[in-house]
Amino acid sequence: MEIDLTGQVAVVTGASGKLGTLWVEALTAAGAAVAALDLREAPDTAGTEPETGRVLRLTADVTDRESLRTALERTCAQLGAPTVLVNNAGIDQPPSTEGGSWLFEDIPDGLSEAVLAVNVLGVLKVCQVFGADMARRGRGSIVNIGSLYGNVAPDLRMYAHLPLDPPFLKPPAYGASKAGVSALTRYLATLWGPHGVRVNTLSPGGVLGGQDSTFLDRYTSRVPLGRMARPADLTGPLLFLASDLSSYVTGHELMVDGGFVSW
Ligand SMILES: NC(=O)c1ccc[n+]([C@@H]2O[C@H](COP(=O)([O-])OP(=O)(O)OC[C@H]3O[C@@H](n4cnc5c(N)ncnc54)[C@H](O)[C@@H]3O)[C@@H](O)[C@H]2O)c1
Repeated sequence: MEIDLTGQVAVVTGASGKLGTLWVEALTAAGAAVAALDLREAPDTAGTEPETGRVLRLTADVTDRESLRTALERTCAQLGAPTVLVNNAGIDQPPSTEGGSWLFEDIPDGLSEAVLAVNVLGVLKVCQVFGADMARRGRGSIVNIGSLYGNVAPDLRMYAHLPLDPPFLKPPAYGASKAGVSALTRYLATLWGPHGVRVNTLSPGGVLGGQDSTFLDRYTSRVPLGRMARPADLTGPLLFLASDLSSYVTGHELMVDGGFVSW
């Protein structure tokens, strides 16, 4: 069976980021029209992108249900009712010698609250608006982007070479938020299964891009497939979950991590 999303309308949140851009390209290449939502300024116009299909760029905040309702109305009016939703918007604190570092007990409330507000409450709110609309119409596939770190704790030894005092801590709220995404996936899969809406989590491992060589060596030595994810590793799993190729799969978490959690 080929992956053909012609006639389908997909919504991607966090669409202007690294992975969001990838999802938009993959969905349009498969024939879907895509509403690309992000906080960042983007032209609010429906346009035809050469050889990839229609992309409607909308400014919307996943923490603000009113802005999501407006985005749903614009999507329905300009592209049609959504049938695919990719909950991708997320925030993290990547290791950086310029960013702050804290002892666990001193991590600012604002950092933890922002991560939870976007990564897990944002998914809930987007589902309340877009997912509920799919359930009312009786059709849809929702793909929530989780993470390796919703399943395993980050190995802080991978960051020990960074010249930071106190040493870098990946925000604990990040993994907690992604575990919350998996729980929401299971909740919504059971709630909306009878209404024709499937809900799954796609959990990438680390994606190659700008990491230093010490981190790369330490990380890849922990991966059975011996490397970080490349963009092309992620699009097949996304299209599988978005399309009817996975018509009997719901409530599942698909790890796309090169086998990291198997070790
Ligand atoms: N890159 C990785 O290695 C990796 C690995 C595992 C999981 N993930 C997950 O994949 C998703 C995308 O990650 P990325 O690497 O592309 O990040 P990114 O920072 O490049 O992109 C995230 C996008 O989300 C948008 N965003 C942030 N807050 C928002 C809000 N309130 N409303 C709407 N949009 C908002 C940002 O503007 C940005 O464009 C995230 O959920 C992340 O946790 C990424």
